[in-house]
Amino acid sequence: SLASAPDTALVMLDIRPGLEAAAAAPAAIRREDYRAPDWLVPEVALSFELDPARTIVKARLSVTRNGEHDRPLRLDGEELELLGVRVDGAAVEPRFEDGRLVVDLAGPAAVVETEVAILPDKNSQLMGLYASGGILCTQCEAEGFRRITFFPDRPDVLSRYTVRLSADQHAFPILLANGNPVDSGIGPGGSHWALWEDPFPKPCYLFAIVAGDLACNQDSFRTASGRTVDLGIWVREADLPKTQLAMQALKDAFAWDERVYGREYDLDRFNIVAVSDFNFGAMENKGLNIFNTRYVLADPETATDADIDAVAAVVAHEYFHNWSGNRVTCRDWFQLSLKEGLTVFRDQGFSEDMGSEAVQRIDQVRTLRAAQFPEDAGPLAHPIRPDSYMEIANFYTATVYNKGAEVIRMMRTILGPERYRKGTDLYFERHDGQAVTCEDFVRAMEDASGVDLGQFRRWYSQAGTPKVHARLEQKDGKAALHLRQDVPPTPGQEAKKPMVIPLRVALIGADSGRELGPERTVLLTSAEQVEPFAEVGEPAFLSINRGFSAPVVIEAERRPGEIEALAASDPDSFARYEAGQELMARDLLAAIRGADLRTDAVVAAVGATLRSNQLDPAFKADAIALPAESQLIEKLNRADPGRVHDVREAMRRAIGQGLSDDLSRAHMAAGGADPASLSGEAKGQRRLRGATLALLGAGDPKVGEALASRQYAGARTMTERQSALMTLAMLGGDKAEEALGDFYARFEDDALVIDKWFAVQASVPGEATLEKVEALMRHPAFTMTNPNRLRALAGNFASTPSAFHRADGAGYDWLAETIVAADKLNPQTAARFVAPLGRWRRIEEGRAAKMRAALERILREPGLSKDVFELASKSLG
Ligand code: PHE
Ligand code: ZN
Repeated sequence: SLASAPDTALVMLDIRPGLEAAAAAPAAIRREDYRAPDWLVPEVALSFELDPARTIVKARLSVTRNGEHDRPLRLDGEELELLGVRVDGAAVEPRFEDGRLVVDLAGPAAVVETEVAILPDKNSQLMGLYASGGILCTQCEAEGFRRITFFPDRPDVLSRYTVRLSADQHAFPILLANGNPVDSGIGPGGSHWALWEDPFPKPCYLFAIVAGDLACNQDSFRTASGRTVDLGIWVREADLPKTQLAMQALKDAFAWDERVYGREYDLDRFNIVAVSDFNFGAMENKGLNIFNTRYVLADPETATDADIDAVAAVVAHEYFHNWSGNRVTCRDWFQLSLKEGLTVFRDQGFSEDMGSEAVQRIDQVRTLRAAQFPEDAGPLAHPIRPDSYMEIANFYTATVYNKGAEVIRMMRTILGPERYRKGTDLYFERHDGQAVTCEDFVRAMEDASGVDLGQFRRWYSQAGTPKVHARLEQKDGKAALHLRQDVPPTPGQEAKKPMVIPLRVALIGADSGRELGPERTVLLTSAEQVEPFAEVGEPAFLSINRGFSAPVVIEAERRPGEIEALAASDPDSFARYEAGQELMARDLLAAIRGADLRTDAVVAAVGATLRSNQLDPAFKADAIALPAESQLIEKLNRADPGRVHDVREAMRRAIGQGLSDDLSRAHMAAGGADPASLSGEAKGQRRLRGATLALLGAGDPKVGEALASRQYAGARTMTERQSALMTLAMLGGDKAEEALGDFYARFEDDALVIDKWFAVQASVPGEATLEKVEALMRHPAFTMTNPNRLRALAGNFASTPSAFHRADGAGYDWLAETIVAADKLNPQTAARFVAPLGRWRRIEEGRAAKMRAALERILREPGLSKDVFELASKSLG
């Protein structure tokens, strides 16, 4: 029989009058409905007869009744062909209720055995057991284990696993699972088998197996307590040379977590496997991390410096989950930020320590503004600990991850580093081996520090980016900072209460340029608050939210010349960067709203940055980049994306023309970076080289084309090559075609580089890009089944505003069609493209109506997944 859970779980609801009411709304799952599991599963033995066409899975669950009740055991299962059920050795007739397998049990404990068949080759969702480039692998978070076997698929059921794998020896010479290998041997008919044991109880979402023809980069790490851990990075043989950077990052991460958080690794081996078809970045399965190839394989010739940094960050992130996520896990999926917010904060700390802290912080804030602020301001806004969901896969969001990390960072700012560390020590000690909640984390912080975080908890329950209005008042040698906070309404949360907002503040002498007194951290806790500053002898400028101490939008009343001065000389480099961005945004937004474009102040600031002897090149590259179009759109009421693009281009042209000498000089100097070096200095130089090239191209297309062609031809790193290619592609014409042709031919066999080839072309601004994207979709190298390839094309197109927001709405229609087509194969990945259509409230009425129409078109599609349905219906709301 074929047990398919979701269909029977559907509740028919007429959700929107006016829509052809075919859509059935899946029921929402609510945080407040949490109940402890009826049955626990302390032990699991699994046996896999692996075959891509049809795999047999036998499961033996030792179950125990949890508490006094007479409810049966209910097991989740999805797309499983059930072959048999036994209870304490005796066959029983299977019974299903609401898509679950129901097993009636009399005593306090039982052994329940099931046998199922699954079809890895047919698994295009990439959840459960699937095939990727000849490798069999699994993905279980959040609810994929139910696609492998019948099980209580929830994170608060922790089990000890024994796993037997058997497969054809020739096709699958390597057999991996969580934990330690304990036995292996040869089986019948050319098969072999391996037995693995994981001594640590874990939730089933951390289960993993891999089978394939894999080569290993082997190394080891000696832990602080003197144990030796075998490290393995498993890839296709040909990819072995590209695993060195990931291996170094892994060893750095092991050492960093010992030094900074006092966390040691707990098994004798740690394996990473790279697969090319993967819905997200990577997965922290206990002792057997599975990665998207894009976050493992890298060398300077085929990966940009940004790619290489991302590899290190993701390797560290997944490793850090071993404590923040695995040893201490989540009680339910509403607590996702418990592990993700904390682990992102930990990987950010790692990156800050490995590179330049200021530059890392700028990047983090850029990501937050590009991905999280729009989410928090739109129809999909949710607190970092959501209250309800239809499909949990939709809640792996920038809010849960990145805003979640900002919330942890604020706790550290409020407590100070020592008390924060006491808090994490207590958290890990108190909850080791448990499945817990965000509340448990905050309580550990309170108990270890003695600081009351009562009001601070609102960061977990209230959505929306707070706005802080700031005005510095100066009278009689004294200053007073007037603050006001305002948390905007979000879906389901009309009225908000004041948040606790830690603001690092310094006053800067308008004449001296020096900090007047020490920086202080102001805790804004009420709707309005006045902070006195004593004895300010000279006019002062306000440097506020330094280091981005709180994830808020600052609206400061500025004096004439204040932002310019801060952009030129704020001693805090993050604040200095911010002032530059504020200056650029001020003049761009004024022009978009209809004023004449004023370029003098921005040109002067960019010129000073380029000529500075003190600033490092990476900072310069960040500081000379204009705010993104998407960010400007967020600040406008009903924007015309075409106009936003034109005004921003005019500013880029003015910079390119006004500073052509400074830019050329910087571009040339930056070309001297050692291509073999991955030092912060060398990476910064290459970043500056790309940024200056782009501005030179904006100033004079002919000059830009010549320089870019030369940079492309002489490129020794992908960083240089890709930035040259992007500049050429933006300028268009023969040189662009020539370079794109060369790029394709040169890297035809390297899937990750061909993704870049698609991405570059889909990121070219302007209305003509859609035709290009449509043609690329018919290119032989395009496939919808590979998430990286689909993201390269659709993801980049949808995040290029002047291309996506074509006035005729054709960009929206294309995206809607693409979502509908992708949904049939892979709902999780398809759903990721819905959000851009949901930003219609920010866009002028003509286009907004077309965006809504595209969402309605999606919702009319019969058989839509829960994933896409949830996001598309909420986006219309
Ligand atoms: N837990 C993974 C991480 O952030 C993300 C992930 C979620 C991967 C769901 C796959 C599926 O580290
Ligand atoms: Zn994670």
